[in-house]
Order: sequence, then structure tokens, then C-alpha cells
Amino acid sequence: MSEKLWGGRFSKTTDEMINEFQASISFDRRMYREDIAGSLAHAEMLTQAGILSQEDCAAIEKGLRDILAQIERGTFTFSLALEDIHMNIEKRLTDAVGDPGSRLHTARSRNDQVALDTHMYVRHAVVEILDHIRELQHAIVTSADANKDVIMPGYTHLQRAQPILFAHHLMAYFAMLARDFERFQGVYARADIMPLGAGALAGTTLPIDRSFVAKRLNFERIYTNSMDAVSDRDYILEFLSTASILMVHLSRLSEEIILWCSREFSFVELDDAHCTGSSMMPQKKNPDVSELVRGKSGRVVGHLMAMLTAVKGLPLAYNKDLQEDKEGLFDAIDTVKFSLAVYAQLIRGMKVRAEVMRHAVEADFSNATDLADYLVRKGMPFRQAHAVSGKAVAQCIERDIYLADLPLADYRQLSPLFAEDVYEAIRPETCVACRNSYGGTSYEQAAHQLHAAQALMAEEKRIVSALAEKQIIL
Ligand code: ARG
Repeated sequence: MSEKLWGGRFSKTTDEMINEFQASISFDRRMYREDIAGSLAHAEMLTQAGILSQEDCAAIEKGLRDILAQIERGTFTFSLALEDIHMNIEKRLTDAVGDPGSRLHTARSRNDQVALDTHMYVRHAVVEILDHIRELQHAIVTSADANKDVIMPGYTHLQRAQPILFAHHLMAYFAMLARDFERFQGVYARADIMPLGAGALAGTTLPIDRSFVAKRLNFERIYTNSMDAVSDRDYILEFLSTASILMVHLSRLSEEIILWCSREFSFVELDDAHCTGSSMMPQKKNPDVSELVRGKSGRVVGHLMAMLTAVKGLPLAYNKDLQEDKEGLFDAIDTVKFSLAVYAQLIRGMKVRAEVMRHAVEADFSNATDLADYLVRKGMPFRQAHAVSGKAVAQCIERDIYLADLPLADYRQLSPLFAEDVYEAIRPETCVACRNSYGGTSYEQAAHQLHAAQALMAEEKRIVSALAEKQIIL
């Protein structure tokens, strides 16, 4: 007869192809630690509630620990016919310890069991991701700090716009990552709700103690509605959308790095160990890491779309469609973790070519706003100053020179307000130093940012360690 744990009402075994189609063991086996931790807590709770005897509980605990050891040793054989990680473990437990094993599933359904496992899995993944975000932030701050005085053109429309500090540019990504960190903290909070005890959908007739399980597994809250508990995938949607935003940030950074290490820009040079060559063109050194991360962002966004679409039309409560939540989630977790780790390394090895960046500022007109601001300081209305500066630029273009080369006599023809000090006012260093409004690109503001970043990273470190302590230890 069927080895299925639900085989009672069936007179035929499951069709081979259907078995394969509906099984999730190939991917949900990675939740074995969560599944075992959940079962241990559940068994203890049943014992406390007088539903399970001490002896049965001890047998279950020993059996589960044996299974844990087998899985970690790689000697556990997963069976496709047993569908998923939950039934693989339960069946093996019952085979090993007999009757007590078959009492473990009392007052529990796979619907609340899988929800419990996935909540714990997401919590743990979020803690790892938070730590990786911090690590990348650290690499960014280190590079910004090491290149504190480097001036580059800032761009709008990918046209040189105004001189900025390279550190300022890089720290914009630090700020994005800081928000990603906050968003992932929010994901943790919404995953930190305990679903077990919801049963299949409506609760149970048995006198269970849900807060015991919640406390045992370090959950902050308990689902207050059993139907919500087994149907909720918001926390996965939130994970995927937060992951998508993070990947989009990394993708934008990637696009910039790819541009910067092109011959046309030559603003940075990546470490040889972080690039690959071409099998045909001997001169090539390709920024594959950045290209791949940019590419992988599409994959994570795709998982978000897939999950939103899967959940959209589902009636309450559990539907097998929900099994589709895991592959995208797991892939997004792996992708985000790997991308962050690789990026931290890439940034650490990235050489900044200060002289090229500086030349890109000097050999252009990104100081034209500063020329206008100079006239404003001498009393000219901004609109007029804008026009004068524009004329100066036009004259320079005609003569193939830059604003720094235009003789004072020509400046004074454009406006009698110009004096010798104009040249100092449009030097790249002056342009940068003067943009000292809060959050601007000045040396002083950049130093503030770097200082504040250290404090923030220390705080993030405390948050990560506090959350890490709440993760299951088996
Ligand atoms: N493998 C299933 C999943 O991931 C577990 C829950 C199955 N429940 C059920 N009644 N078929 O969703």
C-alpha cells in the first residue's frame, strides 16, 4: 500500500508523474533545521499540555536529533514520494521510534507547519542579509574615506553637471543601503509572528499552548487569526519587494561601475582578481561582477512579480499554489546574499583614478553654475547671471578653451562685476568646498557623512547581534 502519511482514504498509489510534479522536497529540504526545531518545540508543548507523555517526547526528541545528524552528515535519503521536508522527517521519525513518532503531528497540520518553517527561515535569512548589507556599507565607507579629496564630475542626464567629491557620490549608495537595512528590519518584524497552532485552517480541538511554542522559538508575536496564519504570504512579498529594491540599488551602482571602468571614462580600475577576460580578444578585462549583479536584479524582481501573481486570486485558506512561494524566495535569498558579499569585495579592490576624474572636471564646464553663483554673490539676479555664464561658456566653446582660460578682459566685457578673484571661485576645489549646504558635496559635509556612517554602522552591528541571538540553535 501507499507509504504516504495521508494514504488512508486512497485505494490507488499516486501516479509517478503526479508525484514528481507536486513534490517540493527537492527545494524545501533546505528548511530541515527549521522543521526539526519546530517539531521539537511542538513536542515539548504537547507534553506540557499533557497531550504527549514524557517518554514519547523523549523518544521524539532523540529521533529528531538523529535525523538532524543524518541530514547534516549527508546520509539521509530524501524520498520524492514523501513529497516534502515535513513528511520526509515525520515518516523517518516514525520508522525509527515507532508509535511516539506518529503522535508528533497531533494538533498540527502541514499548513501551519510549513508556515512556521518558512517564517523561521526568512527571519534567519534576513539576519544574514542585514550583516551583508553592513559589510558592503563598510567597504563603501572605507573607499570614500580613502579618497576623501578626489573630485569628479557629478552628472545629470549623463552629462557633466557640477564638480562633486567621489566620496559624496559613493556615500549616496551608503544611504540607500541604510534604508535597505531599515526595510529588512521591517521584514524581520513582520516575519516574527508565530503561525503554529492554526492547524489546517481553523485551530484545533486540543488544549494547545501557542505562546509556549512562540517563546521557545523566540517569536515576538502570535498570529491572532488561524486562517490568516496559514494563508499569509505578505512577509514573503515584503521580503521579495525589499530584496528587489536592494537589487535595484546594486544594479544602479553596477551600471556606474561598468561605465567608470570603460576606456571612455577610466575613472576606476577593478582588481584583476575580480574581472575576467575574453576568449578571443586578448586586451579585454570585463567587469563581469557588476554586469551579473545588474542582470540578477531582474531575476529577483521577477520572483516578486511571480509571487504577487500567485497570491492575487487565492481564496482562503491554504491552496497548493502557496507551495510556489519557496523557490523564488530561496533564489532571492541566495542571490541577494551572494551579490552583497561579492560587491563588498569588489569595492574593496576598486582603485580610484583621481587624476582622470579631475581632468574630466577641468576639461569641461561643470563649474558654469559656480560662475553664475559668483555673479550672484556680487549682486546680480540669478537668471541674469545664468545667462552671462552661458555666454561665457559659448565663447569658450568657440575658442576651444575652458572657463579657467578665458581672459579677465573677456569676462569683464560680459559683466563689469567680474574681477581677478573669479578664477579662484571656479577652481574645482572651490566649487566643491562651497557647496556646504546640509547634505551637499563640500569637504565638510562629506566628513559629517563619514562620521555619521561610523555611528550608524555601530548601531547596525548591535541590531544584527541582537537578532542573531534570537535565531534557533539546535
Ligand atoms: N509542501 C507544502 C507547501 O510547501 C506543505 C503544505 C502542504 N499542505 C497540504 N495540505 N498539501 O506548501
